[in-house]
Amino acid sequence: MTRPDTTELGAGGPSEQAVRAALRGVIDPELGADIVELGMVTAVRIADDGAVGVDVALTIAGCPLRTQIRQDVETHVGALAGVRAVSVTTGVMDAEQRKVVMARARLVARDQAPATDIPDTARVIAIASGKGGVGKSSVTVNLAVALARRGLTVGVLDADIWGFSVPRLLGMQGEVEARDKKMVPLERQVGDGVLRVLSMGFLADEENAIMWRGLILNRAVRQFIEDVYWGDLDYLLIDMPPGTGDIQMGLARMIPRTEVLVVTTPPVAAQKVAARTADMARKGYLRVAGVIENMSDFTCEHGTSYALFGSGGGARLAADVGVPLIGQIPLHPAVAAGGDAGTPVALDEGQPLCEVFDRIAESVITTIAPVVSMEGCSARMLDRVEAAVRSGAPLGEPADRPPAPSDLTSR
Ligand SMILES: Nc1ncnc2c1ncn2[C@@H]1O[C@H](COP(=O)(O)OP(=O)(O)O)[C@@H](O)[C@H]1O
Ligand SMILES: [Mg+2]
Repeated sequence: MTRPDTTELGAGGPSEQAVRAALRGVIDPELGADIVELGMVTAVRIADDGAVGVDVALTIAGCPLRTQIRQDVETHVGALAGVRAVSVTTGVMDAEQRKVVMARARLVARDQAPATDIPDTARVIAIASGKGGVGKSSVTVNLAVALARRGLTVGVLDADIWGFSVPRLLGMQGEVEARDKKMVPLERQVGDGVLRVLSMGFLADEENAIMWRGLILNRAVRQFIEDVYWGDLDYLLIDMPPGTGDIQMGLARMIPRTEVLVVTTPPVAAQKVAARTADMARKGYLRVAGVIENMSDFTCEHGTSYALFGSGGGARLAADVGVPLIGQIPLHPAVAAGGDAGTPVALDEGQPLCEVFDRIAESVITTIAPVVSMEGCSARMLDRVEAAVRSGAPLGEPADRPPAPSDLTSR
């Protein structure tokens, strides 16, 4: 963006302040904030005769919203007293400027995000892809299991509302109960860790199906985010619905801190997918944290590898998007069989596929999205105090030190 702003204050024209105030009425519909707040207005010129010039920097060349933004600027500024004409000049941001705008958009979204029960300290990771059937759900459940095996508490949100598959893949069934008008996820113990799972599959019994059928998809996803009692979580993994449209954008709006792991397959014809992925991230102003390649080389029992679906797609996509390739999961019947049986391969300690997911979990924990340390954290402290008060038992070791007032108010 070219700064500083150039302004010629005219005796007859409106003040720059008035023009900027009017420009705050122009919302970038994709980014969900006004163009002044987003830093997209790079210059305002006001001539003596009431002609106003506004420079707007767009996030991408050929932005489909260019015409709309231009018209909105003309309408809003044109309505000001003393304005005779409005001319809008659009330019395109460079990568650095775009990053700044995206960061601002995330901040704005954070302010507007609805209240959820997802703990502040939980890392939220959406498993997404540019196309369907690449193994999002398989990756989600196996990564969740691999994280839980390390003693972590992992929420799994099956956001594929109508095409849900998580209950089957994890071999879980049951009905969601409500506590304080919130849905309580179903739990499954895995090693020292816990999975807390919510899926439409736990709600779609006769009675509830009637209740849900009328809901539009977006509303259902919203409910899944707002009205769930998650409790303490280290990670929340979201199995994203297929496609890169409104639902994904809506999800992003609701949990702006979401980071995306993109699942792709080996064929290098990934250009299109890369573009779609980048576009999805842009629309949702989400951070893409890494790429996972699924259905990579199949190794037969004799040790020979076959690149059945080609190779290089994951590395290529990662390079295109500018993020690390954090794992390659071989194409193997055991992945499908484990899913069908409700026993994900990531449970089979000592098996190569289990190790693959364990390594992905490790890189998530150590580099991609390190777990937020809760040791001595006031949130856990409050939980302990509350539990102790409820049970009448004395506080355990770490809570022996009375919480400082700052601890009690900092969260
Ligand atoms: N690495 C793999 N090896 C063999 N089959 C796989 C692998 N990953 C996924 N599958 C199978 O591919 C199909 C699609 O996977 P799924 O996880 O449902 O994809 P998505 O959620 O992206 O639609 C399923 O039948 C699944 O068992
Ligand atoms: Mg799926």
